[in-house]
This record gives sequence, C-alpha cells and structure tokens, in this order.
Amino acid sequence: MMYSVPHNIQPTTPALLAPLQVDSRQLYFAMLDEGSGIVGQIDELSGSTSRSFLQEQLSIAAATHSDFPATMLSLPAVLCSAQDQVAQEYRHYLDERSAGSPRRYFGCRSHAMYFLRAVAPTKLVDGAWLYGLLQSWQDPRLTPLIRTYLEELGCGNLQQNHVLIYKRLLARYGCEKWQDGPTAHFTQGAVQLALAHHADEFLPELIGFNLGYEQLPLHLLITAYELNELNIDPYYFTLHVSIDNASTGHARLALQSLQDCTPRLGDAKEFYRRVGNGYRLNQVGMGTQQVIASFDLEQELLRVISDKAQTGAKLHSDYCLVGGRLLSEWLSSSAEMADLLKTLQSTGWIRRGESLEQSRFWHLLTDEQAPMFGVFDGYELQLLKDWILNDANKTPTINRFRIRATGSTIESSAAPQSDASIKQIIAHHANKAPRTGNCAEVDILFSQLTGVDTKAGAFAVLTGLLSPANHPTPAGLAATRLYADLFLNLS
Ligand SMILES: [Fe+2]
Repeated sequence: MMYSVPHNIQPTTPALLAPLQVDSRQLYFAMLDEGSGIVGQIDELSGSTSRSFLQEQLSIAAATHSDFPATMLSLPAVLCSAQDQVAQEYRHYLDERSAGSPRRYFGCRSHAMYFLRAVAPTKLVDGAWLYGLLQSWQDPRLTPLIRTYLEELGCGNLQQNHVLIYKRLLARYGCEKWQDGPTAHFTQGAVQLALAHHADEFLPELIGFNLGYEQLPLHLLITAYELNELNIDPYYFTLHVSIDNASTGHARLALQSLQDCTPRLGDAKEFYRRVGNGYRLNQVGMGTQQVIASFDLEQELLRVISDKAQTGAKLHSDYCLVGGRLLSEWLSSSAEMADLLKTLQSTGWIRRGESLEQSRFWHLLTDEQAPMFGVFDGYELQLLKDWILNDANKTPTINRFRIRATGSTIESSAAPQSDASIKQIIAHHANKAPRTGNCAEVDILFSQLTGVDTKAGAFAVLTGLLSPANHPTPAGLAATRLYADLFLNLS
C-alpha cells in the first residue's frame, strides 16, 4: 500500500546533509520546527537525515532482545501473559512497600523531578509517531491508530491533551528547563518524530512501535505510586494506566490495527518481521530505569551551580566573600564548584543534616527580597534542599493526590448529528471555539475553512495543525476538535 508523505516534509539530497553531523537532540528540535539554529536546513534535516537516523535506530533495535513472538498467532497470548506478569510484579512491589521497604525508584523528591525533566523530550511529543497517518484517513485499517492519535491529543480538549498535561506538570514543579539535557534524553522523542515523518515508508515498523509503546509497563505503575508519595501529581502517569489498557484502550487498538493491516496478499511474513523490529524500537535510547539510575544528587547539584556560575561570576560585587575569597573568583572556574560547596559548609553558610532554616545560603535563595531570590527554579531548589537535608528518608511520604485516571477521552466537541452537513459542523465549531489566547489564529483557521463542504477539504486544511509542534496551541486544539468530530462522529 502507498501512503502519502505529510505535506510539510521536503525530501532532499544526502549530499547537503553530510557535514551537519546531526545528533538526536538537534534532529528532535529540527523536526519539531522549533528552531535548530540551522536556518534553511530544517527541511533537509527533517527529510534525509531523519530517515537515516530512523534506519540506524532500527538496526540497533534489531539486535535487542524482546518478548515479541515469532508468529502473530501467539501474539495476543504473549501480550496477555506479559500484562499478567506486570500485575503480579506490581502486587509484589506493593507488598514490599507495605512491609516497610524504601521507594524503589526515587531516593528523594529532586530525583523524581530529575526524571520528569529527563523524559520531557519524549512526553512532549506523546503520540507523535502516529501523526503521519492522518494523510491516509480514508483507509479504514488505520482508523484505530488515528483514533489513538486523536485521543493522545485529548480530541482537542485543553485539559485532556497529553502534551499539555505534561507541560502543566513541568511548570507546576519548576521543571521547565529540559531543553539542554544530554543528547541521549532526546533519542526516543526523535525516533517518534522520525516515524511521523516517514509513516508511509515505515508503516510496519510504526505499527509495531505503537504496539510496544501502548503496553502497560511496570515502571509506569511504580512511577505513579512514588510520585504520589513525594507529593508530585501523578495524573499524567495514572491517565496512561487507564487509557492504554489491553481490554478496551490503546493496547487493544494497537493489536487490532496490526491484525487489520497485515497483508492478505503479498509477503505477510516480511511485514510481521518489520512489525517486530518496530516493537523493539521502543527499547532504543534511554529507558526509564536507565534515566532513574543516572541520577546522582551531588553531581546534579554541581552541574546546576556550574551552570549558574557562568552568569553569576560577572554579577557579584567585590564585597561577596566566601572563605576569604571573592565569590566572583570562585564562580569563574567550574572546576572549583565542589570546593565552593565544601567551603560554604566549613564557613557555616550551609549546614547539612540540619533544618533548612539553619543555612544562611538557603535564606539567600528563598527569602523574599533576598539577593538571590528567583535565581534557582523549583527543580534546582529541590536539589539543594535534598542535598542540605542529606537524608532521603526525611522526604515526606504522603498520598496527596487522588487517582484521577479517566477512561477513553473521546467526546464529541459538537453534538454528533448524522444529518448535519460538513458546513454546519464547521460553522458550529467556529462559533463555539474559545477565543482566549491566540484567537487571531483560530479566526484565520475558520476563515480558511469558509466554503469547505467535504471531509477531504476540511482535513486538507486541518491536518498540518494537528502536527506534534502545532496541536498544543489554541489553533491546534480548535483544529483537533473539528477533526475529531468529523473523523469519529461523522461516518
Ligand atoms: Fe499519551
């Protein structure tokens, strides 16, 4: 089968790309069109380079071990058994915790916040791998996957759009600075965007990737549990426990789409082999366990302070002395940050193991009108707090957040009317669309839809606004609501 390439992707010649040596982080931002700093090269990056990147990641995936069975006949039973195993292991985890075992993942609150930042590049393109399928909306075999994509976007509902839920989570806890993280943090997100850009060519791999991604993993359950204990809202994670369920959720839709798309004529074996490789593609890049294991409280604090020092070295006056030495001198060399921390302790500015109020340095950062108030964000303050308190067990263990997981997010944003014309539905959405935020773009969107009276015509206007970069915007949300209404409620 042939699938058309999304309209915003321009193929190019590999020769133009060779000198760029693009890494996954650079590619990630280029594909999101959020500015890689290589003006004029974005199309090239998004075309040939993302294709080469995807092929490279697929060959890495091919060498990894997975539970993907050799034949499709046994696939449902294997997936079912894997889910039973997850349930059993989670029960075991809960029993361990009830018996007094410490948290398995997060030693302290800043550790959990480190995790939220590290996985942000993946979570902020949630569902992106399915975007390229919108061009093929007329193929009924892809309906379950397009439905999954629309649900990832909350069907245009601001409160249910997964990317916006994650953005709000980051903002709430001062974890919004994730863009400068290590390249390895961007590999999974770049894979997902690359699949979106090459959905036509890599359809079997995309279907397999989706199948693997939508299985409920143990780490999701433990992460949600421990975030809650650390007084961090786990809603983004609990939402996925319910929405990905194997009985009625995205895991079921993923299996259904594989069964529907398997060729009846042609090489079904080769198709299935490629699906298996896409399934394994979930394992490339840094996994949850690796991200969690990569956290070292003191090293992370030193990294943050070194970062601040680059600006701070020029901003402190000659009166700021620590251990008899000018603070601006301390800050001029990132290699001296460990010694600076030691000196802050030996001179009494920081008193580790005592309450925060005993540390004058803490007051400098957090007291209103203090000279360094606002210099550290929520995550950075939590790092310092955990390091000063110097005892992970002192982190309060509470269960503040009620589980708010919901089932399917599908809701028609306009009352479904089987006899309504496309024009009437568009007019309904135009009248109903909220005009908060960037309402000019919402107005432009509906002006572009003036006179449109077919689904094909409407989708041609709407599809670009449902891209991973555009859907979490006011116009993107309005476009998603209309798209979902036309796609899901109008047969
Ligand atoms: Fe999601």
